[in-house]
Amino acid sequence: MTNQPDHDNSPLLLGIKLGTARTAVVSSRGYRQLTPSVVGYPRDIIAIRLLGKTQVFGDQALAHKSALVLYHPLRDGLAADSGKSNYNAGSELLQQIISEARQGESGDISAVIAVPARTSPAARQTLQQMAAQFCRNALILPEPYLVAYHLNRLANCLLVDIGAGGVTVCAIKGSAPLPQDQAVLPRGGDYLDQQLQALVNQHHQGLHISLTQARQIKEQYGYVGAAPEQVQLTLRAKGKPGLYDLTDELGAVCGSIVPEVVEQLASLLPSFDPEDQETALQHIYLTGGGSRIRRLAGMIAEGMHEYGPVRVSCVDEPEYGGAEGALQLAAELPPADWQEFGLANRLPEAGS
Ligand SMILES: Nc1ncnc2c1ncn2[C@@H]1O[C@H](COP(=O)(O)OP(=O)(O)OP(=O)(O)O)[C@@H](O)[C@H]1O
Ligand SMILES: [Mg+2]
Repeated sequence: MTNQPDHDNSPLLLGIKLGTARTAVVSSRGYRQLTPSVVGYPRDIIAIRLLGKTQVFGDQALAHKSALVLYHPLRDGLAADSGKSNYNAGSELLQQIISEARQGESGDISAVIAVPARTSPAARQTLQQMAAQFCRNALILPEPYLVAYHLNRLANCLLVDIGAGGVTVCAIKGSAPLPQDQAVLPRGGDYLDQQLQALVNQHHQGLHISLTQARQIKEQYGYVGAAPEQVQLTLRAKGKPGLYDLTDELGAVCGSIVPEVVEQLASLLPSFDPEDQETALQHIYLTGGGSRIRRLAGMIAEGMHEYGPVRVSCVDEPEYGGAEGALQLAAELPPADWQEFGLANRLPEAGS
């Protein structure tokens, strides 16, 4: 007898994290996928011939970027005023990731969707309507809260989500965070890439690294504090290869986020009851792709030394924390209660 996956007729649940750079999806059937939040449309008829389709998503879109017009729908927060093409691209991206997550299964889907904490109410509303086209139930919540849910730390903790589009510092106090419990810094990983590109090109005559190269260098070698090693790379200036030392530029750029994060942690700390502040300081978590910058947790802890014993840790899988928390919540809170819980959405009964 073969071991078939047991679908037990339970409705398919999805946890989705929509991000500026990457969208993560996990399902109640064990499906997991991380996709760049990019949609590409062929530039012309030749490009359509090359690709064999009229829209391309994620890694495939990035791989063929010269043949495509690319949209990064989450970069502008999906706000209603962010433009019709951007809206359409966002909707097609959501449809695509949900359809892949189905893995051929039909039937109703309920999804909890994590969005960046800075997402405006208008953009959330837009997203709610978008999700209603593909899901029977959808609940949209800020990513840091769902990461806290995944960590099972729903009170007295501080979360720092270092994404591509921004950094959010969030005080978790037992319920979905209010605007005053969150500090949003607009300078996230994308900003670091721009800064690194500018600094490297300025310091090394004739060298012009691209934003993609800057991001790749940051992701592979990024650090704060004392350099773990010299970062010497072979790069091309005017087509000719040469060895360049980028250690100082990388340290300066990555280190620039530390003082801002420390400042926001310090400003949110007094919002906890005085008797809870010590516990909150012991539970500071870094999440989001930027939390992988080496030595970041140590430098943030050092920056907070005036506040007594502090423990800063990085979550295990920063790429998936928001989606995993979303799936957990979807499994634990019956969809019928989502309406009351937040910005919920229900489609009319089939055939009604
Ligand atoms: N190893 C790494 N070191 C440093 N930065 C990294 C690393 N891996 C990924 N990143 C950066 O993390 C960012 C993507 O993280 P994440 O997926 O959490 O963002 P997002 O959720 O798409 O963005 P946002 O939450 O701002 O909408 C990018 O800027 C990426 O370059
Ligand atoms: Mg994010």
